[in-house]
Amino acid sequence: MPRPERPLDEHGGPVTQLAAGLRQLRAKAGKPGYRQMAARVNYSVATLSAAASGRRLPTLEVTLAYAAACDGDLQEWERRWREADRLSAAAAEDPGAELNGQARSPYPGLAVFQPEDAELFFGRGVVVDELVRRLRQRRFLAVFGPSGVGKSSVVRAGMVPAVGGPVVVFTPGAHPMAGLAVHLARHAGVPAGGLLDELREDPTRASLAVRQGLDDASPGVDLLVVVDQFEETFATCADPAERTDFVAALLAMCREPNGRARVVLAARADHYARFAEHPQLLAALADAQVLIGGMSPVELREAVTRPAELRGARVEGALVATIVAEVADSPGALPLAAHALREAWHRRQGAMVTLAGYQAAGGVAGAIARTAEAVYAGLDGGQRDTARQALVRLVAFGDGVEDTRRRVPRGELDLPGIDSVLDQFAVARLIVLGEDTVEIAHEALIRAWPRLHRWLSTDRDGLRTHRELTEAAQSWVSLARDPGALYRGRGWRWPVNGSPATVTPPP
Ligand SMILES: Nc1ncnc2c1ncn2[C@@H]1O[C@H](COP(=O)(O)OP(=O)(O)O)[C@@H](O)[C@H]1O
Ligand SMILES: [Mg+2]
Repeated sequence: MPRPERPLDEHGGPVTQLAAGLRQLRAKAGKPGYRQMAARVNYSVATLSAAASGRRLPTLEVTLAYAAACDGDLQEWERRWREADRLSAAAAEDPGAELNGQARSPYPGLAVFQPEDAELFFGRGVVVDELVRRLRQRRFLAVFGPSGVGKSSVVRAGMVPAVGGPVVVFTPGAHPMAGLAVHLARHAGVPAGGLLDELREDPTRASLAVRQGLDDASPGVDLLVVVDQFEETFATCADPAERTDFVAALLAMCREPNGRARVVLAARADHYARFAEHPQLLAALADAQVLIGGMSPVELREAVTRPAELRGARVEGALVATIVAEVADSPGALPLAAHALREAWHRRQGAMVTLAGYQAAGGVAGAIARTAEAVYAGLDGGQRDTARQALVRLVAFGDGVEDTRRRVPRGELDLPGIDSVLDQFAVARLIVLGEDTVEIAHEALIRAWPRLHRWLSTDRDGLRTHRELTEAAQSWVSLARDPGALYRGRGWRWPVNGSPATVTPPP
């Protein structure tokens, strides 16, 4: 007489849920014995019964074999397995998952390496040394490079820990002066609102706030100010006066004779020409810029293998070779490979991260699209509309340059069911949720996910109009609803091939 199956926790995670579903299917089929099922589908009794044990996620093949042995709908079971696979990969991100033997991923995927990830950051020793050397000689440095090459990571996880000491890191967003005030205020221990008012009056007072926060520190200690995604100053900040003030504040902090800050800007190289709009910035750039390129094959190898080793795992040689070959010639592929590598980590076999796991995730070409599609496929109709409307708003159109991500206040995405939709994309690391903001994890998503690409190109004109209107509405509200300031723009008309319907993207 076979032992009865261990009861499953009805509040269990995705793996348990799948197991419970398989058991129900078997019960509905008249509870055939595992021996009988095994004979039917040519899998062992042990493999089939383990699939319904809820201890770990069975492979897709075994799940389908189980379902077939119980006359289940194979398409339906493939869908359920994929959902469980996706959710359990996400759950493995939970630090508590380590208790279940699921080591936390040493690969951040699309996300940037942060200062606290320094121990997992490899392959950039040469560049980090160069940045530190330059920063010793001068108080100002601009780091340029194409999107996805690894600027933010090298600055945050490489340079910041190497320099040490007090540091503020922020991105300019739509209101760079406010961002600067918030961070400097925290450093100086003063209220942010008051500091912002002061900086508006005189941006060069920023250097005062820097000194104020350093009072107790030894005289040789400086504040390191890192402005990442500096291109947002041009692409996202719509107010030229604020832009000029921001530049003036940054330069005052590091250029005044008793300035105690070292300022590092990281910016996408395709925005380089815009620096010329600010003569002082242009002058500061002379002899103070570093252009970052892709990693060499040796560096890439290190970046791929070392993080796994730190977690007691290894990366299969064939996988290392594949990634090195894919990324060495096109550094823009780095975020795609990073994402696929993270997925491969979740699919590792024992302590080995395998090429098969990487390919199952879609490799460089498909991993992001696949993850994004899987999240999208898991949404119901209403949530899909919401996802579409939200995601397209997270992109700033590049006129003449590539589209950029756009960080938006959560309030701007007032859409039905938005919280749950954002959470699902955030769990998959496709977007990043800040305290009160939402942003795409990496521009690579814009390029690599055909569905988003399609939405953006179909709706571009309508979206542009929609955005102009949103911005006009916002500034009208902030101008206390002055009728004289109402949107007149370039003479109001619907976009050429558009209609009112395209303003709000159709489902
Ligand atoms: N040294 C590295 N090793 C492994 N992955 C890296 C490294 N540097 C960057 N990445 C990955 O590459 C992608 C792009 O990095 P990021 O720093 O955001 O680039 P950028 O700021 O130039 O757009 C991210 O997915 C990041 O995790
Ligand atoms: Mg960056």
